[in-house]
Amino acid sequence: MELTFVTSNEGKFREAEEIAARYGIKLKWKKMSYLEPQGSSLEEIAKLSAEALSEELKEPFFLEDSGLFVEALKGFPGPYSSYVFKTIGNEGIVKLMDGVENRKAYFLAVVAYFDGEKVQIFTGKVEGEIATEMRGDRGFGFDPIFLYGSKTFAEMGDEKNEVSHRRRALEKFFSSIC
Ligand code: IMP
Repeated sequence: MELTFVTSNEGKFREAEEIAARYGIKLKWKKMSYLEPQGSSLEEIAKLSAEALSEELKEPFFLEDSGLFVEALKGFPGPYSSYVFKTIGNEGIVKLMDGVENRKAYFLAVVAYFDGEKVQIFTGKVEGEIATEMRGDRGFGFDPIFLYGSKTFAEMGDEKNEVSHRRRALEKFFSSIC
């Protein structure tokens, strides 16, 4: 079975490709960016993005929207993760968290699948903590500051794919269609 994953992020595609292979699914990479409408939740943004894109692509595809939610920052950056990463980045988050005791955070991934008729949503979450400094050189985005146990996602390399928010959302999606 083949499925099209629309994303401009190579890191996301490689992770998804590996997870899909376990279900005997071959992923085709449609490398493009798409308009992400403003919304109060990732679920809403992913659904609206997929509905808008379905008008253009007409064929089945899925996309995936993720965000980092920091408890002490009341869920920030959440739906603004992409903008925050591009502006203040990992150093900025570490600075915002300077001296903050509660370091709990989670990643949320929302997969939006357009099956040719309608959009379905699948979510996955992984809990961890914000590190006090950037560590590791693998992965992408906020991986160097996201601690899962004693290692950051950027130190875990392929092990990240066993436990990540992306894996949890994709597993729900793939098992629903296989
Ligand atoms: P988006 O899903 O591409 O909108 O991602 C929002 C922001 O979160 C971007 O800056 C990504 O780099 C970052 N991000 C998404 N997924 C991950 C992940 O698995 N690890 C670390 N950062 C991520």
